[in-house]
Amino acid sequence: MENLPSFNIIVILLFCYVTQFILWQTLAQDLPCRTTCGSMQVKYPFGSGHGCGSPRFHPYIACSPEGDQLLLTTHTGSYPITSISYTTSTFIITPPHMSTCTSMQQSPNLGLDWASPFQLGSSTFLLLSCTPPTSSLNIKGSPVCDTSSYLCASIYTCPSVIGLGLPLFPPTNTCCVYSPANFNSKGELDLQKLNCMGFASVVSLQEHPTDPSQWQYGVELKSRGGALDDYYIDNKCNTCEISGGVCGYAPLVNSFVCVCSDTINTTMDCNTRSLQNQPELAWNSVSLLSSKSEAVDGVSGWSSFRWSSLRKRTAYS
Ligand SMILES: *[C@@H]1O[C@H](CO)[C@@H](O)[C@H](O)[C@H]1NC(C)=O
Repeated sequence: MENLPSFNIIVILLFCYVTQFILWQTLAQDLPCRTTCGSMQVKYPFGSGHGCGSPRFHPYIACSPEGDQLLLTTHTGSYPITSISYTTSTFIITPPHMSTCTSMQQSPNLGLDWASPFQLGSSTFLLLSCTPPTSSLNIKGSPVCDTSSYLCASIYTCPSVIGLGLPLFPPTNTCCVYSPANFNSKGELDLQKLNCMGFASVVSLQEHPTDPSQWQYGVELKSRGGALDDYYIDNKCNTCEISGGVCGYAPLVNSFVCVCSDTINTTMDCNTRSLQNQPELAWNSVSLLSSKSEAVDGVSGWSSFRWSSLRKRTAYS
C-alpha cells in the first residue's frame, strides 16, 4: 500500500514525458517557413506563409492551405504560380480559366491589386471570341489590337475553339493580340468591357511560332521596381540561405529574421546565431530537469511547468 502513491507519480511522470515528446515532435515537423510548396522551390522574397519571405509579398503570395500550390491571390482570384525565375525577378501564373490550345473557356476578369508589388511582365495576351471587328477595340480611345499578327490565325487552328462557342477555324476578326498589355484603372484586364469571352496568354512560342500546341501559356509578372527587394536585406538573406536558413520577417515590425528551425530565429544566420536565441535550448533542457522535482509535488507542478514551457516558446514568435 505504501508503494501506491509513488507508483502514481511514476505514471504521471511518464505521461508528462510522453506528452512533452509528442508536443516536441509535432512542433519539429511543423516548420514555420517552408522551402518548398508542392513542387515549387520557395526562396526569398517568396514565402510559404505569414512571417516568411519578404513582407512586401505577403499576403499576396503564400502556399495553399493544402500545401500543394504556391498561390498569388488578388481581388479577382487565386492563381497558381507555376514557375519562378529568381535571376530575372519574374514569375508565371496560370489562371485556371485561361484558355490554351487544349482547352478554351470563358474567363472572368484578371487583375492585380494596386497595393501589391507586382506588374505585368512581357507575356502576350490573345483576347478570344470578341465581338467583331476587333480593330475597333480600344481602351480610352487608343486601339488595343495588333492586327498584323499571325498569332490569332495560329491559335484559331486549335479544335478547342468550340469551347468558346466558335466554329472550327473561326474568322480571325474575333481575336485580338494585346501586347504590351496594360490593366485598366481597376487593375484588371476587363474582358467584359472589351466584349471578349476569354483570353490566352503566351509566355513563349518555344521555337514553334505557328504551332500553338507547343507554346508555353501563362501570365508573366514581375516585381515592381525591378530588383526584388533592397540590397541590404538581399545580402543578409543570401548568407541566411547559405547557412541552411529560410529568410523571413518578424510580424508587426517587419524586421529581417533568419528562420533556422522551429525554435530558432536569428537576426544573423544559422551558423553565427545571435546570442539571445541560445539560452532557449539550454532553458528547455534545464526545465525538463527541474520539472522532475516539481512533478513530485503532484500534477500542479507539471501543469505549471507545461505552461511556462509553452509561454517560453511563444515568447520568441
Ligand atoms: C520564427 O519566425 C517565423 C517567421 O516570422 C515565425 O513564424 C516563427 O513563429 C518564429 N519562431 C520563433 C521560435 O520565434
